[in-house]
Amino acid sequence: MTQTPSGEVVVRLQGVGRRFGATPALAGVDLTIRQGERVAVLGPSGAGKSTLLALLNGSLEPSEGSLEILGSAPAGLSTRERRALQRRVGTISQGLDLVEQVRVLHNVNAGRLAEWGTPRALASLAWPRPDRRALDALTAVGLEWAVHERTERLSGGERQRVAIARLLIQRPELVLADEPVASLDPTRASEVLALLGQAVRRGTGLDADPDAGPVARPDGALVVTLHQPLLARQHCTRAIGLREGRLIFDAVVDDLPPAALDDLYARA
Ligand SMILES: Nc1ncnc2c1ncn2[C@@H]1O[C@H](COP(=O)(O)OP(=O)(O)OP(=O)(O)O)[C@@H](O)[C@H]1O
Ligand SMILES: [Mg+2]
Repeated sequence: MTQTPSGEVVVRLQGVGRRFGATPALAGVDLTIRQGERVAVLGPSGAGKSTLLALLNGSLEPSEGSLEILGSAPAGLSTRERRALQRRVGTISQGLDLVEQVRVLHNVNAGRLAEWGTPRALASLAWPRPDRRALDALTAVGLEWAVHERTERLSGGERQRVAIARLLIQRPELVLADEPVASLDPTRASEVLALLGQAVRRGTGLDADPDAGPVARPDGALVVTLHQPLLARQHCTRAIGLREGRLIFDAVVDDLPPAALDDLYARA
């Protein structure tokens, strides 16, 4: 049975297009994503998936159409306001964006820079002391043993989990992950997607916010680009298909017709 999502709007795109020079990377995209949704973005190489994610975290502006992220239109924001908005969005890029030469703890605590401010962040670099939240985040991804390891010594899969621990500690309202399981075996891929789902779910011990009081925060939203429709079915609530910059399907995962996937990946 198809359920219409009823949470608050997290992102809304209306007629959004993005060109690079004369090349349209995205065109005419209408998309609304609400709290509690886990959205898989499927599509062949060059379809516009990474471009869509860059728009959703405000690092790229649309060439046309209107874009709203967590209640704001990034185009109308000052640099300061835009940074404040971006702190509410957690992104795992294809390259992970970890600092390789520092200890794992510092990469995890990078998720708290907005909360801490510069003086405390610098103090933490000089005197690294893992506190409960950092240890909880690392335990959630199975890396509590690695807290003082240098990041570059970890395997690719372990570094991926450090990036997820950084997200867990950031408590973002929107999580964007660009091909987070591209290089992982099927079991690890499933684990990583389950952890990303956890990063937007509220009410876990890790989410306990000492300043928030007893009011429960609503779930966030996850947008993840994937090349495996099966993983989308297992871990997401909704799947969208992009091809040559256009949205060619948008469905609840259980309703995804196999023909839609065949069309998506068929050669032009
Ligand atoms: N910064 C850029 N400058 C110029 N062209 C770009 C830029 N970023 C993306 N493009 C072009 O936009 C189109 C969509 O690219 P995008 O990276 O969004 O695709 P993708 O679906 O993420 O592909 P992949 O699966 O290979 O990661 C491509 O034709 C690409 O060459
Ligand atoms: Mg890409």
